[in-house]
Amino acid sequence: MSEQSASGTDRSGVVVIDLYSGRGGVGHALDGLEINHVGVDIEDYADDYPGEFIQGDASAVEWLLDALTDYLEADTVILWMSPPCLRYTPLTQINAARYGWDEGEIERRYPGFEELNVRDVVAAINPDEYIIENVPRCDELEEPTRVNGLAFGLPFDLERHFETSFSAPHAVERGEPDLTMSTRDNYNNTEYQRRELAEAKSVPTDWPEQSVHSAIPPEYVQYLLHYCPASDGVSLPESLRQRPLSDHFVARADGGNSRAVDTATDQQGDT
Ligand SMILES: C[S@@+](CC[C@H](N)C(=O)[O-])C[C@H]1O[C@@H](n2cnc3c(N)ncnc32)[C@H](O)[C@@H]1O
Repeated sequence: MSEQSASGTDRSGVVVIDLYSGRGGVGHALDGLEINHVGVDIEDYADDYPGEFIQGDASAVEWLLDALTDYLEADTVILWMSPPCLRYTPLTQINAARYGWDEGEIERRYPGFEELNVRDVVAAINPDEYIIENVPRCDELEEPTRVNGLAFGLPFDLERHFETSFSAPHAVERGEPDLTMSTRDNYNNTEYQRRELAEAKSVPTDWPEQSVHSAIPPEYVQYLLHYCPASDGVSLPESLRQRPLSDHFVARADGGNSRAVDTATDQQGDT
């Protein structure tokens, strides 16, 4: 990792702790921004994750503090969390209806923020800034910033919500995406669709479909870190700078919670 980023800003004292990292959609984005990072996932993605990786349970607070000791000594710690979202996705509701699950079955099958100790982990790590990502229907996020691909001229919608410890405006554009991916039938897409989405998200094209789906695109990461006071000098994504800001971009810190965009589109909401 170089001391100077491409923008000439020294980010050597900054580390992003990338919890629930998966194979590393966020990790690849951080590499591109030349920001130090470490991924943590319960699965062993050491061979895929770009850079340092620790396998373990990100909801185990004591273990986490111990495993991350060296990283927590950095000058500036940014915590990124992408906890599993199956508790909150439309696909889960569809399956519950399709298979006649009893009341409470969704909660028994899929851990939510409470079971994953999300708030306890934030408190224990006590980062300079944090970002918690999830799907639009996740009601655990407090005043999230809404972001989708069309806002950056990307060929997919993929709206995601981000609770941030700092203020960032929404970046949501409405329209017809070129790439629509079915998640209703458990990722029953063609090989061609999987590859196209991987390319559009700038992740390796040999990743399995679920990893491609759940990967956060680099534009979203760069956009949020642009507003993060702890990651100095991250510019807005080029694709956004080239596009005029429309009425759809609404200041999050608007006081009155007036949102110019609707949240109806979360069909791609499984990660
Ligand atoms: C939404 S995906 C992460 C996607 C990632 N942010 C990206 O951009 O590629 C959620 C990840 O959480 C992991 N996971 C689930 N339970 C976990 C736990 N208790 N501790 C750590 N990781 C866990 C899963 O293995 C999965 O890789």
